[in-house]
Amino acid sequence: MSTSPVRLVEVGPGDAAFPAWCAVWAAAELADRPDEAPRPVSEHVVLGRQLAEPGTSKDGTHRAAVLGDDVVGALRLIHPVRDNTTVTFVDLAVHPDHRRRGVGRALLAEALALAADAGRTELITEVDEPGPDAPGRLFAQRAGWTCALLETRRDLVLPADEGRLAAVEAEAWQASRGYEVVTWRDHVPDALLADRALLEERMSTDAPHGELPVEEERWDAARIRETEELNVARGRAVLSAGAVRDGRLVAFTDLHVSLGRVEHARQGATLVLREHRGHRLGALVKAAVLRDHATAFPGTRRISTYNLEGNAPMVAVNESLGFVPAGQLSMWSLRRDVLGAP
Ligand SMILES: CC(C)(COP(=O)(O)OP(=O)(O)OC[C@H]1O[C@@H](n2cnc3c(N)ncnc32)[C@H](O)[C@@H]1OP(=O)(O)O)[C@@H](O)C(=O)NCCC(=O)NCCS
Repeated sequence: MSTSPVRLVEVGPGDAAFPAWCAVWAAAELADRPDEAPRPVSEHVVLGRQLAEPGTSKDGTHRAAVLGDDVVGALRLIHPVRDNTTVTFVDLAVHPDHRRRGVGRALLAEALALAADAGRTELITEVDEPGPDAPGRLFAQRAGWTCALLETRRDLVLPADEGRLAAVEAEAWQASRGYEVVTWRDHVPDALLADRALLEERMSTDAPHGELPVEEERWDAARIRETEELNVARGRAVLSAGAVRDGRLVAFTDLHVSLGRVEHARQGATLVLREHRGHRLGALVKAAVLRDHATAFPGTRRISTYNLEGNAPMVAVNESLGFVPAGQLSMWSLRRDVLGAP
């Protein structure tokens, strides 16, 4: 094993080293997917501020791996505080020019120690896998993590095929008589806020989570508004569509557009309450948000979505809309005591 004289330094969004910390992420993302713009810096800065601010739904901390004067690795830990209080979410990247020298290993050891200090026993991380043998997968396997969830990424190249979209809409409208479609941007209407919180809670229990060590999340109106404000501050527009029956929101879908890179949008959560399934509401709200999105952001060239392969209804909706496979996203977990770590 190579040893490296790397120093691990605490950083935060107000620090002089933070732009270099963000640049490690940009370089790592470009190495994995050279034809896609990396996340804008605003994403990291605003999340970093939220993690430092007391009273929000997440705490967290950042470390930079520094070699000489250069930041060569980036670590972010996120600790949910309202639920899942045994879990630490780990984001870890090493600059492509400094890999295979133990920097990732050093940051991971630090993550384990910090998780222990925070009283957390379960660690979760995610790896983008454009193709086979992604470095993150090989690293996680080597470090003893377990792949707990494997999702297929599917991309829809825009503009969407009008014939396909119209066919999905026609079928959905037919099957969903009695339901009304509503759309909104960034902030759910007050009248639907409590229902939106319930749907978010259901996302944490009803959407497939594989073997991830996560429990039901606790959502209320205030947490929905906190998340909405965070997205606005991050420079994201969130376009949403919902299905309403008897004045109650029973299904929703979110589509995230980063204003710094509108060319590539990402599908957020989609959920239909159990008791309202079988009416093509998933297709209904997805088609509605695609219509709104085409009007609001004609510059978007691609939308990415992530599904567990076993989630047949969602995969079928996406394929009927023209989404095609574009790699995988894997989620990995590790129990701290498995390694006998501190
Ligand atoms: C994954 C990542 C953080 C590894 O960083 P790193 O500094 O190269 O990792 P290390 O040098 O500490 O590697 C530790 C061990 O992991 C394994 N490993 C890491 N990268 C590997 C690769 N590309 N191929 C095969 N094995 C690899 C090796 O066993 C390595 O030990 P060795 O070099 O002594 O054989 C880096 O590739 C990266 O930033 N990838 C993109 C972001 C990402 O996927 N993050 C998720 C991390 S869980």
